[in-house]
Amino acid sequence: MIKISEITSADKQIITADILKKLTQWFGIDSAINDYVSGVKETVFFAAYEDEKPVGFISIKSNNEYTAEIYVMGIEKPYHRKGIGTILIEKAQLFLKNNGYRFLMVKTLGESCDYECYARTRMFYKKCGFFPLQEIKEIWGEENPCLIMIKVL
Ligand SMILES: CC(C)(COP(=O)(O)OP(=O)(O)OC[C@H]1O[C@@H](n2cnc3c(N)ncnc32)[C@H](O)[C@@H]1OP(=O)(O)O)[C@@H](O)C(=O)NCCC(=O)NCCS
Repeated sequence: MIKISEITSADKQIITADILKKLTQWFGIDSAINDYVSGVKETVFFAAYEDEKPVGFISIKSNNEYTAEIYVMGIEKPYHRKGIGTILIEKAQLFLKNNGYRFLMVKTLGESCDYECYARTRMFYKKCGFFPLQEIKEIWGEENPCLIMIKVL
């Protein structure tokens, strides 16, 4: 049974570090993980627990009064395709709508980089109602084309 809780304590950083370190196919660079671990402190954070064990999370930041962004999210691999990511997005959306936000965006790896793991991530976001807005190579560099996806809340 999966339970979702909002986390406001330093557990945000512990959960982010634990889960991202296990998702090596998506988060393979230690310095990037460290940046996320530090960055989640300032974000709204929901974790998914199975019994007492955190198995996934979503971290949301505000870009302006209308638009929020999925700063980072991850589900432990054995728990993929069980609907947990969808539940976390729904929880975040409810929070954002209640706080007057109109758009939710996410940056992910674009399809001009042929990497199957992120093709699956994009399928997930599409299924959750996100549309591709623009791929920009200047954000993460030529090697890591950044796709901005967005949905109306
Ligand atoms: C992307 C991620 C958060 C999705 O979470 P999840 O709990 O596995 O997703 P869900 O079970 O809610 O999937 C919902 C729908 O999205 C689509 N989807 C999700 N994973 C998919 C996959 N691997 N292949 C194809 N479609 C997929 C499906 O349509 C799925 O519905 P279905 O299972 O009924 O067919 C999770 O796979 C993950 O942590 N990936 C690694 C880290 C990552 O990519 N983070 C985002 C960085 S920007």
